Amino acid sequence: MDGTQTPDKSETDIWSEAGTTRVPFQVYQDADIYAQELKRIFYGSSWNYVGLECEIPEPGDYRRNFIGEREVLMIRKDDGGLSVVENRCAHRGAQLCQALSGNAGSAIMCPYHQWTYTLDGELTGMPFKRGINGKGGLNPDFDMKAHGLVTLRVESLNGVVFASFDHDVPELKEYLGPDMVKYFTRIFNGRGLRVVGYERQVIDCNWKLQMENLKDPYHAGILHLFLISFGLFRLDQESKCLVDDSKGHSVLMTAKGTEEGKEDTGGVRIAAPDFSLTDHELIQPRLEFPDNVTLSIQTLFPSIIIQAQCNTLATRQVIPKGPGSHELVWTFFGFEDDDDEMKDLRLRQANLMGSAGYVTLDDAEALEFSQVGLSGSPAGEAAVLEIGGTDCESNDHLVTESLIRGFYMRYRDIMGHGKAGA
Ligand SMILES: [Fe+2]
Repeated sequence: MDGTQTPDKSETDIWSEAGTTRVPFQVYQDADIYAQELKRIFYGSSWNYVGLECEIPEPGDYRRNFIGEREVLMIRKDDGGLSVVENRCAHRGAQLCQALSGNAGSAIMCPYHQWTYTLDGELTGMPFKRGINGKGGLNPDFDMKAHGLVTLRVESLNGVVFASFDHDVPELKEYLGPDMVKYFTRIFNGRGLRVVGYERQVIDCNWKLQMENLKDPYHAGILHLFLISFGLFRLDQESKCLVDDSKGHSVLMTAKGTEEGKEDTGGVRIAAPDFSLTDHELIQPRLEFPDNVTLSIQTLFPSIIIQAQCNTLATRQVIPKGPGSHELVWTFFGFEDDDDEMKDLRLRQANLMGSAGYVTLDDAEALEFSQVGLSGSPAGEAAVLEIGGTDCESNDHLVTESLIRGFYMRYRDIMGHGKAGA
């Protein structure tokens, strides 16, 4: 990250004395701010999710992904290690791999002029390097070593792969911190992973609104009538919201109540009382982790969510697509040693989530309402974030926006907006 750069005008003066309790609507729609976010956050000192190791088991296997708007390839090397390189030829900038995933064999070759790279991104050769009959080709002093692919730093934690454009970024575990590692390894506990399925959807709202949504337990007990009606999630359940020391990461958890139908809905209307589910397995979790938590949502800065709702487990990656849109990529996963009953549950309960999920369908619509509503708002107008007070601390209830305030505290640190007003 370039810490010496003087912030643009667009980066200053937009936050009021109210600090993170007022998020300026400009940060969701201003192109200059968006460009700075890409540079400082996604291409800066952050660890970004790029996939699961189980997606690339064999040497030469690759999976294409994005960090910010830059395309990267997560690759399994011949020695079993991992590399992450930018999916752009060092010659003329062509996209190297077009398929979402595949096997590159022992080398990556550009389809345009066949410049060829090792699985680590080193340039090894190209056609007509010495020309023909001594004419043409590359000058003999052309430095092959200086023209490899852009390589990223890569780390894997129990099968989950992260990469960073900053080779000096702190180690992944340090970046996450001990509290977040504890909840991360509650799910990713070292057991072999398997992919259950994928979903991808484009949602026309700023990427930060998606992150806010998963840090917003307040909405979940109001917007999601499916959850409320069938007792899966209500705001009075035993719960915990944990914000890490950096304030950018968080996890929220609830334990399913035992007395369904007796929860305090806080005046929220529920579906008609005579509504019932034909398939109760849809909402019956089989406890699989060493606690009674039936919903946990971990959000890691900047843009990855780890969801465990009943037995549907997924990573949700938020890929920015300009200030007003993003792609949400769901990777549903389970464990290699899942028994047949668990395999069935993971598929059945996956209906709760995803682009057409009984629950998350609501989110995509509400988030687009947000972007439409705030678009064109004059400078000075801001979102009000005072539910649960004004701080960014952990707590044992769900009627709070403290996780979102924490996200913006971290965001402001990185964007050069300072900490004023907390
Ligand atoms: Fe939601």
